[in-house]
Amino acid sequence: MPAFAMDFHVITLFPQMFDSVLGCALLRRAISAGLVSITFHPLRDHGLGRYRQVDDTPYGGGSGMVMRPEPLVNAIEAVTAKHPGLWRVLLTPQGDRLEQPLVNRLAQRRTGLLLVAGRYEGVDERVRSWVDQEISIGDYVLSGGELAAMVVIEAVARLVPGALGNSESLAEESFSTGLLEGPQYTRPREFRGVRVPEVLLSGDHARIRAWRESAALKRTAERRRDLLERRDHTPRG
Ligand code: ADE
Repeated sequence: MPAFAMDFHVITLFPQMFDSVLGCALLRRAISAGLVSITFHPLRDHGLGRYRQVDDTPYGGGSGMVMRPEPLVNAIEAVTAKHPGLWRVLLTPQGDRLEQPLVNRLAQRRTGLLLVAGRYEGVDERVRSWVDQEISIGDYVLSGGELAAMVVIEAVARLVPGALGNSESLAEESFSTGLLEGPQYTRPREFRGVRVPEVLLSGDHARIRAWRESAALKRTAERRRDLLERRDHTPRG
């Protein structure tokens, strides 16, 4: 058994949507190594009546359907009864914005994550009392929380020690420093007339580090001023 593994549980109407993510090399490897587990809990199992209904028309009228509370809450309770302590997350455009600091905090949840993917136009308001946090992956609307749940799984799983295989690249990559990463190069030295910056070929590690730091700052200033401004207001250790 590895020292630490991350258990994801997902409540969804469409477990098959996750096949693509599970097929990706990083997750497949992490799962076979016992570093990550993903368990699906089909919401339809908790559907109501003969047709296993999970949604209904909105009270007060309006277009679209709303997910009924009973299937979702019964599913959440069934999973947490078996797996106590899971951090329960509802994926919704109204939730806390998923950014690297939140990903880092989720990765610290040793007891695992329960990701609840809503569908249709929304979920009955009362379901909100059965989750610990609501998370949005950005200011746009998807037809359901499945893709958002996959984003959370992928972002968190790569932080599980051993899953990525190179903890240094984690420390340097975009956002973990509060900056975008600077330009990266590999072979060949010259491609269609464009040469790799000389400093990267110099073998002078101090110069390379200084170049990378200033390149990251420059890129961030050009593309994401907001990150620089936020960094100036965030105390660093
Ligand atoms: N469900 C629908 N849109 C979403 C979003 N942007 N983030 C999280 N869950 C969602």
